[in-house]
Amino acid sequence: MVSEIRYNLHLGYLKNNFFMKIKSICCIGAGYVGGPTMAVIALKCPHINVIVVDNNSEKINAWNGSLEKLPVYEPGLKNIIKKVRGRNLFFSNDVDNSIKKSEIIFMAVNTPTKKQGSGAGMAADLTYVEACARKIAEVSTSDKIIVEKSTLPVRTAEKIKEILSENSSGLKFEIISNPEFLAEGTAIEDLFKSDRVLIGGDQTDSGKAAVDLIVDIYKNWIPENKILKTNVWSSELSKLASNAMLAQRISSINSLSALCEKTGADIDEVSLAVGMDSRIGKEFLKASVGFGGSCFKKDILNLVYLSKYYGLDDVARYWNQVIKINNFQKSRFSKKVIDELNGTIRNKKITILGWAFKKNTNDSRESAAIEIADTFLNEGANISVYDPMVREKTIKEDMKELWINSGDSHDQIVSKSKQINIYNNAELAVNGSYCVCIITEWDEFRDYDWENLIKMMKKPSIIMDGRNIINKTLISKYTKKFYSIGK
Ligand SMILES: NC(=O)c1ccc[n+]([C@@H]2O[C@H](COP(=O)([O-])OP(=O)(O)OC[C@H]3O[C@@H](n4cnc5c(N)ncnc54)[C@H](O)[C@@H]3O)[C@@H](O)[C@H]2O)c1
Repeated sequence: MVSEIRYNLHLGYLKNNFFMKIKSICCIGAGYVGGPTMAVIALKCPHINVIVVDNNSEKINAWNGSLEKLPVYEPGLKNIIKKVRGRNLFFSNDVDNSIKKSEIIFMAVNTPTKKQGSGAGMAADLTYVEACARKIAEVSTSDKIIVEKSTLPVRTAEKIKEILSENSSGLKFEIISNPEFLAEGTAIEDLFKSDRVLIGGDQTDSGKAAVDLIVDIYKNWIPENKILKTNVWSSELSKLASNAMLAQRISSINSLSALCEKTGADIDEVSLAVGMDSRIGKEFLKASVGFGGSCFKKDILNLVYLSKYYGLDDVARYWNQVIKINNFQKSRFSKKVIDELNGTIRNKKITILGWAFKKNTNDSRESAAIEIADTFLNEGANISVYDPMVREKTIKEDMKELWINSGDSHDQIVSKSKQINIYNNAELAVNGSYCVCIITEWDEFRDYDWENLIKMMKKPSIIMDGRNIINKTLISKYTKKFYSIGK
């Protein structure tokens, strides 16, 4: 049954509570969060029009274009878009009008780490969030509920509220924190069956009413006992805390993988034994070449910055160590490759299998592959890359961004660009290679005909499994030089 969503906001100038149907939601930001979350809301709430806007018109065109070339790759997403696009889900460049005609505005814009100014390298850059708030204030002609979907530092809602109230003429805005917990690669599954949905609002009558309205949306498919109502600050901090604790588990197991390599213990056996303790649990205990993705590093840095800001230096140092171990793991992996190739990789072809930061996504932000490739390039190697989903253009942009940020000269950039070749199949990427590094855990890598691939490589053929996905017994038949993490 289509539930009537009650618009029961007790806002300043209104004398009475009133009921009204929510007809339209606008989401600013058509990225990895905005696209999939709004597709699921549109699917589960056919009575609501959902408009996703972005100031990147190329992205909007792609969302409106071929289902095979959507800007976000997620299992299951294409089928939902097919059902709801043009029905009650729309992608548009018309930011102003879409905001104007919607009662609820979700902000799902990027919140990267600041690159310059105070807090550079740590604090969240709120430029895009602030731009959204200013835009909403500028174009709105009616009261609205603003939902923070982006991951934000604690007390951002306060700043958004200030911008809105100082830049609009007498309109009322309720700010709700509703952080997104989806994981790329399983986003649709996560959105369908969220462990919890967190909705934080002001503890005022109008704040509580606004929270209830957002609850009403989620209630269309999420059981009520999984919807958690909190105050705004708890909601904002819970998102940072969740990501920090997930990343901490990965760094914990990765730190132990180094110890396993020295002692003869096997990290997969250790993970299994540790994870069977019900107080610990088995998730996020898989050793790897290090975590990537747009969130973990940035959110921990944000937590470190917040802790420092509030004078909690020991807390800041504690969380910063999670990032240090992640860097240690990536550089340990690159060093191992160089050592195995007798300390010199100049002019040697090294293959990187997998560029995405994890399987089942085309997102490569902060992927371990980027830094590992750069280390090899700096040593003069020739890199060949294959990833089933990440486009050549993205791989080139990832490298260019790193080079520019590291202050490489124009000549260095030109020279390093020539050392990278990107292929659309694994055989071409592996042919003639000295070493194959598996960086992403794509299922297809596990299922390759490794006998054939190894035949195509230089001898001795080195395989470095940065994800522990390859069967050691099988591959040992074809090469003696097989290495995995923590074994
Ligand atoms: N990617 C994830 O797995 C994930 C999961 C949970 C939470 N988050 C958080 O959600 C937020 C969004 O992440 P994402 O991965 O979707 O980012 P993204 O970069 O994929 O998408 C953000 C989009 O916002 C658009 N944008 C920025 N400013 C705009 C403006 N003023 N007007 C219109 N469009 C604008 C950008 O063009 C971009 O397309 C971040 O805060 C992130 O930390 C991300």
